[in-house]
Amino acid sequence: MLALSLAGCGQEAKGGSRYRPGGAAGATIGIAMPTKSSERWIADGTNMARQFQAKGYRTDLQYGDDKVENQVAQIENMISRGHRLLVIAAIDGSALTDVLRRAKDAGIPVISYDRLILGSPNVDYYASFDNERVGRIQGRYIVDALRLDAKKDEKFTLELFAGSPDDNNTKYFWGGAMTVLKPYMDRGQLVVRSGQTRMNQATTLRWDGGTAQKRMDDLLSKNYGSTELDAVLSPYDGISIGVISALKSVGYGTGGKPYPVVTGQDAELASVKSIRAGQQTQTVYKDTRKLARQAVLMADAVLHHRKPRVNDTKTYDNGARVVPAFLLDPVSIDRKNLHRLVDEGYIKAEDLR
Ligand code: GAL
Repeated sequence: MLALSLAGCGQEAKGGSRYRPGGAAGATIGIAMPTKSSERWIADGTNMARQFQAKGYRTDLQYGDDKVENQVAQIENMISRGHRLLVIAAIDGSALTDVLRRAKDAGIPVISYDRLILGSPNVDYYASFDNERVGRIQGRYIVDALRLDAKKDEKFTLELFAGSPDDNNTKYFWGGAMTVLKPYMDRGQLVVRSGQTRMNQATTLRWDGGTAQKRMDDLLSKNYGSTELDAVLSPYDGISIGVISALKSVGYGTGGKPYPVVTGQDAELASVKSIRAGQQTQTVYKDTRKLARQAVLMADAVLHHRKPRVNDTKTYDNGARVVPAFLLDPVSIDRKNLHRLVDEGYIKAEDLR
């Protein structure tokens, strides 16, 4: 790999940058995160920065405010300042091809964080959770919570939400959930009254809760006048919160009209509180401390000319190469096992009060 040999011998890189030879001490790592509007990315960024610093690296942590042009400019700046390695959670997975070519020319390795960067051969490794499994967990939760297998003659209503169309994870979450839900939809036990059953009808640009709320308002007013909604597939807590606001505004959550089953992802504080209050039903816990650790281990290995540990070399084809990945296990959380978040120190007990 160009990046390794250059980092190793201190030669002039193609783009003209000079690399400090060998070791990693004092090297700066560029960490490009998408947004501060969600707690998880704040935690991902600070966890990584802390862990890199503990290994003797300097860090440059930047947030793109969910604007592609900001993120590209931030990465360009990291390259021109000679950072030794980049860890990137892309805002738009397909928008980084040019800037990553520049990173490659400058001999800077790139780790794609949580979201796969698409269309570029210059992505060295990918650290994430098993994204397809996240979707299967959400789909399975709905099947089990509605007891579909025990109530084969009963029909239930469902509406579907997907994540941001420019995030590669979206299709894995959706695909995983559909593997589980589609057989029930096909045999008419789960009925999507809006008819919006294709992913491109259900996406939520930039995972925005307000956008999801508006769509849910619309779905409810057009399809659920006298019929109740039994379940909502939501791929992410921010979307779930928007969905629940829309449900609340038409009377769900009161006496005879319980909230439908609403899934989620990320175990964000607002959603964990909502689960405890009996509003949101479920979330998927992805321990960002572990993901940060994985990315730091990968980066440290790359910078020391070792091969990072990976556990998937087949799934994540970004269109230009199959990116070797390390995938962590997601965990389903609902009211019953919510204490696990506190037990593992992911959420502080006092924050839940
Ligand atoms: C995805 C990520 C999810 C969630 C979502 C919105 O890429 O895998 O865990 O955070 O973005 O931020």
